[in-house]
Amino acid sequence: MYYSNPTIENLHRIFDQNERKNYLRLDLNENPGGLPQSVIDDVLSNITPQFVSQYPETLQFTEELAKFLHTDIQHLCLVNGSAEGIRYIIQAFTSPKGRIVGVVPSYFMFQVYSEMYDRDFVKVPYNDNLTMDVENIIKELTQDTQLLILLNPNNPMGNCYSDEEFKRILAAAKKNEVTLLIDEAYHYFYPKTFIDYALNEKHIFVTRTFSKLFSLAGCRLGYVTGWPDGIKLVQKLCTPHNTNAFAMKFAEKIITTPEILEDLINKFKEGRKFLIDSLDKNGYPHKGEAGNFIFIKTKTDAINIVNRMKEEKGILIKSYPDVGDFGTCLRVSIGEKKYMERFMKALMDLDRE
Ligand SMILES: Cc1ncc(COP(=O)(O)O)c(C=O)c1O
Repeated sequence: MYYSNPTIENLHRIFDQNERKNYLRLDLNENPGGLPQSVIDDVLSNITPQFVSQYPETLQFTEELAKFLHTDIQHLCLVNGSAEGIRYIIQAFTSPKGRIVGVVPSYFMFQVYSEMYDRDFVKVPYNDNLTMDVENIIKELTQDTQLLILLNPNNPMGNCYSDEEFKRILAAAKKNEVTLLIDEAYHYFYPKTFIDYALNEKHIFVTRTFSKLFSLAGCRLGYVTGWPDGIKLVQKLCTPHNTNAFAMKFAEKIITTPEILEDLINKFKEGRKFLIDSLDKNGYPHKGEAGNFIFIKTKTDAINIVNRMKEEKGILIKSYPDVGDFGTCLRVSIGEKKYMERFMKALMDLDRE
């Protein structure tokens, strides 16, 4: 008997990531400049036909990554982008109809995976002034809750939790035996991390990615950190050879060459400063720059600006509806100064009353 899963049939997915290559892409929080060409050339110059023909080996890279994170490999699972790690955590640590708590708006895949596996995703909304009241999160950590998803910093709001807020949330999660997933995709744009909790305690995971500051979104690589028995369950769900050999080569080069990372951070900071100064100078309210993205309240219709940015200026940005007091506003990825200059020039041109 032919069968197709009605849950999957009814699942809403957006497949909009094609035909973007000729644009300046400031819509998916990639690094628009990417790694220096010299780094790309250097890594590729060591690639042999055997390297390409063989299944990827993960041990050497995992050991380097463990060194980089001051931990050991039993606390790590490599994944094909952190989105994959998030999926496996939901699969392994929640049950059908199981209760998952997360803030909204947020990275949409949390809700997609919850729906895919028939979980009950409970939304904790932001306040109108775009702050998050942690008491509202704590209230939802009931005894039957299986997983709490936090982001540090959050996407798209760009907000962060103070240590005191985090400790209160964690205490409530522990009291009710709720597994905690902290998504740190935007770590490095903002230095605070909760990874030590994942490396030293049970029932806490931190997921990270090489797609953002590390500029390897095209190669697909991320990792999950957690306690060894939890990591083993995530590993059991991985498809065989799930991580790309090229991705690991590039990532190894970056984590073993401090100047590359420093250069990426410095270029990002220069771009961010330019953008924020320019927005302030021109009277644009903005919010949430802890990640590599920012919300901008425009003077004229935001959706019209998004469309014209694409058609007239060759720049992709996103609009978000109902962002508290900001209403419908722009979300723009932050990158090197030269890209921010191009974006600002286009914005000044298009956003006229
Ligand atoms: C908050 C957050 N988590 C995870 C991801 C997934 O990243 P990747 O699968 O490329 O590692 C993204 C991508 O935009 C994100 O914004």
